Amino acid sequence: MRILVMSGPNLNMLGTREPDVYGTVTLEQIEAMVTSEAAALDVEVEFFQSNHEGELIDRLQAAASAGVGAVVFNPGAFTHYSHALRDAVAACAAPVVEVHLSNIAAREEFRRESVIAAVCAGQISGFGARSYVLGVRAAAGLADAAS
Ligand code: DQA
Repeated sequence: MRILVMSGPNLNMLGTREPDVYGTVTLEQIEAMVTSEAAALDVEVEFFQSNHEGELIDRLQAAASAGVGAVVFNPGAFTHYSHALRDAVAACAAPVVEVHLSNIAAREEFRRESVIAAVCAGQISGFGARSYVLGVRAAAGLADAAS
C-alpha cells in the first residue's frame, strides 16, 4: 500500500521559517519521522513538496492511477483560498487527509477557514511535525479499509 505525503508552499523552509509558529524541525526531518512510522505500519510512502499550485494539482490528478491508496496533504496557505486545489482533492479517487503543523483554528481569522477540509476525509491540525505522523496513521487506515 502506498501513501503520498504532499506539502505546499513555503513548507520547504521549515526549520528556519517562523520557528515560533512552526518549530525548528525541517521538512527532511519530518520525512524521516514519517518514513519510520510508515515502516512500522508496513506501508510505502512517497514525498512531494511544491511551491506551485498547478504542480500540486498535477500530482493529485496522477495519484490514484499511480497506485496511491491515500494522500496526506498540507496545502500551506492554499488551504485558505485555493478552490482549484479543493476541486483536485474532490476529484481524487484516493482519500485525502489534511494536515497542519499549527492549530489553524487558533490563528489569524483568514487561517481559520479551510476551503479544502470539506472534501477531505478529515483534518489533523496543531501537533507540529507529529501532525504528519498522525496523518500517515489515518491515511494507512483509510487505504486499508478501501482495499
Ligand atoms: C500551515 C498553516 C497555513 O496557514 C500556513 O500558510 C502554512 C502552514 C501549517 O502547517 O500550520 O504554510 O499549513
